[in-house]
Amino acid sequence: MIFSKTFISLNLFGVWGIANASPYSIKSTGHWVNLTKLPHPRQEHGTVAIDDKTIALIGGVFRLGDGDVQEGLLTTDMVEVYDIPSNTWRTKAPTPYKVNHPNVATVNGKVYLLGGLVEAQNPPSPYPDWIPSGECHVYDPATDVWSPLVPMEKSTERGSAILGVHGEMIYLAGGMTFLIPDDQDSLTTVTAFNTTSGKWQKLPSIASNIPEGRQHGVGAVVGNTFYVVGGRYMKKQNVRGTVFMLDLNNPQAGWKTSEGKMPVPRGGLSGAVVGKKFYTFGGEANPNATDGVFKETEIFDMITEKWSEENPMAVPRHGSSAVAVGNNIYLPGGGLQEDGLEVEIGGKQHLLRTTDHFDAYVV
Ligand SMILES: *[C@@H]1O[C@H](CO)[C@@H](O)[C@H](O)[C@H]1NC(C)=O
Ligand SMILES: *[C@@H]1O[C@H](CO)[C@@H](O)[C@H](O)[C@H]1NC(C)=O
Ligand SMILES: *[C@@H]1O[C@H](CO)[C@@H](O)[C@H](O)[C@H]1NC(C)=O
Repeated sequence: MIFSKTFISLNLFGVWGIANASPYSIKSTGHWVNLTKLPHPRQEHGTVAIDDKTIALIGGVFRLGDGDVQEGLLTTDMVEVYDIPSNTWRTKAPTPYKVNHPNVATVNGKVYLLGGLVEAQNPPSPYPDWIPSGECHVYDPATDVWSPLVPMEKSTERGSAILGVHGEMIYLAGGMTFLIPDDQDSLTTVTAFNTTSGKWQKLPSIASNIPEGRQHGVGAVVGNTFYVVGGRYMKKQNVRGTVFMLDLNNPQAGWKTSEGKMPVPRGGLSGAVVGKKFYTFGGEANPNATDGVFKETEIFDMITEKWSEENPMAVPRHGSSAVAVGNNIYLPGGGLQEDGLEVEIGGKQHLLRTTDHFDAYVV
């Protein structure tokens, strides 16, 4: 089940009769719509839907300078909220700490911020030097107030975990505890936060580790299954195309790995679920693109456990974070090129291109 070279070349020469026989033919369905740009270019943030009209951006990094030279990244506490009907942005109460790669989820209209990565030094060095935080807070949109929660347990503090919400529970799989230039780790840890009791809960030991470390992946709970899709194992280049699955009604059965593998394994991707389909977009560390970014739109069908492809991203990115509201999947900001890669555009060198671009994929 791989995206074979033969198929790609057939596809390029337009032999659609043969190409269509493949489960990976690119369908011309779905389209991209540009929306009002973000108030500030941002990447490595969390995106959540507060309700069916409102999306919130939590944490992440702002770029210092214009990106011609690496002038560094600034971790932010700024919360910006997008109103879907009016296509406008507003600023809300900042998060209680500056955080990138935050673990965020909405349960019953409240936004949970559970850990993430923070600057190791203050003032921060221009290059990423990020360590984990176990701080946890909940935001009430009605009062615009953040309130503290019980922190993450020792040795489970992390950022870039892969989240799923199941009723009152928030599940966090994998994640990372540090990121410096050219090095990062990836965890197998699975933990759960009970929003009713306000406590961290243990999973049965058989379910408390995913089969291999992951971060910069995407996830969701659909029905009673927690899906952990794609991401990286340790280094940025170690992209993965797996789908790990846990039946939350029977966690004693442990994690399973789907037979369905992503056609193009990717880390730093964005993803969201519409119906029984998991849409995944873009990603980072593409060795075949001069800007190091993936443009793929690939979809995992949770019923057949097969992947298909649709129209690629109009503006390919990584380090965004997607959220679905109705049939629209919103992708705010992100990076237009692989971080740290030297990319020349119009005679200028760029090592980083954080963007304020905002678009939606209409399923
Ligand atoms: C959407 O925005 C991108 C980036 O600014 C631009 O290249 C593209 O032309 C826009 N698409 C439309 C339909 O306006
Ligand atoms: C969450 O906590 C509440 C209150 O302690 C408890 O009644 C409930 O069973 C817990 N939920 C799960 C899924 O363990
Ligand atoms: C890059 O291109 C090579 C040669 O065509 C191919 O084998 C490989 O799968 C491609 N890698 C990605 C990540 O697309």
